[in-house]
Amino acid sequence: MPEHITTQGPLNEWEQMNILEAEEWVNSLNLASTEILSMDFIKKLHRKMFYKTWIWAGNFRKTDKNIGTHWPNVAVETKILMDDVKYQVNHNTYSNLELAVRFHHRLVAIHPFPNGNGRHARMMTDIFLLSQGDKRFSWGSQSLVKESPVRKEYIKSLQGADKGNCDLLLRFVES
Ligand SMILES: Nc1ncnc2c1ncn2[C@@H]1O[C@H](COP(=O)(O)OP(=O)(O)OP(=O)(O)O)[C@@H](O)[C@H]1O
Ligand SMILES: [Mg+2]
Repeated sequence: MPEHITTQGPLNEWEQMNILEAEEWVNSLNLASTEILSMDFIKKLHRKMFYKTWIWAGNFRKTDKNIGTHWPNVAVETKILMDDVKYQVNHNTYSNLELAVRFHHRLVAIHPFPNGNGRHARMMTDIFLLSQGDKRFSWGSQSLVKESPVRKEYIKSLQGADKGNCDLLLRFVES
């Protein structure tokens, strides 16, 4: 984190500017889903979103957290997720919308990075949707970064998906 930032407000703004820069970078690329669903891209996007805040941006976790996979398995599970989704795209296993929701839930459940997983996984999901010719999700139509009723609803819908029921999450992402 830059030394001149000492309080939460300016930190959020700083991070948000960095994330907007990443959005512009992604928009300039016009990637196909096969390029997005790669270990290289998933890390590169995290780095582009957070390089101004964390020196370790773009690197997978090396410690355990209260959510997420045991850290030594992060790379393998992320690779499996990417390959599954590529397969599911090719075989029309789910509707685009349901596939994107399941992808989001699994990515955030792996929790590949020490921080920024929610924002990164939401952006990955939106980029994936755009690559499929779909609209991005509205994600409750509010910032999910701070504690709020909408964020509670988001977390509750992820917990539903943890138990195998994606219905709440499917509704939430388009609300
Ligand atoms: N109990 C939970 N069950 C499932 N997923 C959760 C749970 N709590 C948090 N998450 C997911 O983890 C994310 C928070 O992880 P992290 O702090 O790494 O991301 P972030 O981008 O910094 O957070 P934020 O979502 O606040 O912007 C949430 O956005 C959500 O996607
Ligand atoms: Mg966080």
